[in-house]
Amino acid sequence: MPHVALVAGASGLIGRRIAAHLAARGWDVIGVSRTPPSGSAQRQIAADLADAADTRAKLAGLSEVTHVFYAARYDHPEGAVENEVANTAMLRNLLDAIASGDSHLVHVNLVHGTKYYGHPGPIPAPVAEESPRGAGATFYFAQEDLVRAGASTHGWTWSIARPHIFCDPAADNPRSISLAIAVLAAIQRELEQPLFFPGSEQCFASRTQFTDLALLARALEWMATEPRCANQAFNVVNGDYPRWSDLWPQIARLLGVEAGAPRALRLAQYMSDKTPVWEAIVARHRLRRIALDRIALWEYGDYVFRPEWDIISAMDKARRRGFHERADSLDMFARVFTAYREQRIIP
Ligand SMILES: NC(=O)c1ccc[n+]([C@@H]2O[C@H](COP(=O)([O-])OP(=O)(O)OC[C@H]3O[C@@H](n4cnc5c(N)ncnc54)[C@H](OP(=O)(O)O)[C@@H]3O)[C@@H](O)[C@H]2O)c1
Repeated sequence: MPHVALVAGASGLIGRRIAAHLAARGWDVIGVSRTPPSGSAQRQIAADLADAADTRAKLAGLSEVTHVFYAARYDHPEGAVENEVANTAMLRNLLDAIASGDSHLVHVNLVHGTKYYGHPGPIPAPVAEESPRGAGATFYFAQEDLVRAGASTHGWTWSIARPHIFCDPAADNPRSISLAIAVLAAIQRELEQPLFFPGSEQCFASRTQFTDLALLARALEWMATEPRCANQAFNVVNGDYPRWSDLWPQIARLLGVEAGAPRALRLAQYMSDKTPVWEAIVARHRLRRIALDRIALWEYGDYVFRPEWDIISAMDKARRRGFHERADSLDMFARVFTAYREQRIIP
């Protein structure tokens, strides 16, 4: 039977990567979001998953779907608690809509994250999948409970990925740490000042981790099709755990600026008077005109540079079941910065 994937959140950071990866691997792919990406090579359906009737109207009858890859996420301002009721209802509406007597659904995969282990933290390091649910509000628990219950009712299996921070070569999503760093570096260079680390000394000394989006897409396909992964959750990170203090000089070198010391400030505040500097850079280098307060979500940068503890998701469970891929986080930054230059986002 051909694999037919329904990718929820197909216009999002992760969803569009999963959709493209699966299509390249020969899957039939159907994407779902409220505003489907224009020019997509895959079939796209516009549906509001928060609206049960709209979801039913648009998705009922997709009995050919064998796998759901769920990477949708209800809108949320940075720093606000994500809406558990709405996020759970969206997943429920989707599963209800495609459940039918002649459904071919065999697997439901959810993309979650490290927040499972406690949010905002600190969390144990290393942290393994068997760790209990952490403190702090997240919609992950309710969604996990929903797929566990659905699996026992309907007979399909589930898997959950827990990735960490991404760096996206596309520059249309401001919730991006690589974009925030690249633009900060351009501004510091323009000011003839070093690229300070926008966090505390303790954060600078801490280990962190990233998830390469291509690695994540391969991991999702693997866990959705490998029988040993049925009804399991997996950490998915690059597998190196650099200290910011080791990474920072290398990132600065990639961006052509001198590395500076930690400065525990708020990026959102720091950027509040830098628009003239950014506009001068954009004009002189003929960059794409994207306003400084739109190009990167500076509050998200503040969130990433806040933890004063090691963040290390153990990859042993995936390794034991046969997923051995790794990615070099510095190489990932280098690729992403090159992509920004090619798109004329940074000088
Ligand atoms: N971003 C990260 O750095 C990161 C890191 C680790 C884990 N995660 C986890 O990964 C998952 C996906 O996150 P993401 O960052 O990829 O999300 P995202 O970029 O914000 O994308 C969200 C997707 O959901 C769709 N969506 C939102 N509301 C919808 C609705 N009512 N009906 C239909 N579609 C809707 C959006 O499309 P429309 O707006 O067009 O509807 C979009 O395609 C989340 O569980 C997140 O916690 C993210």
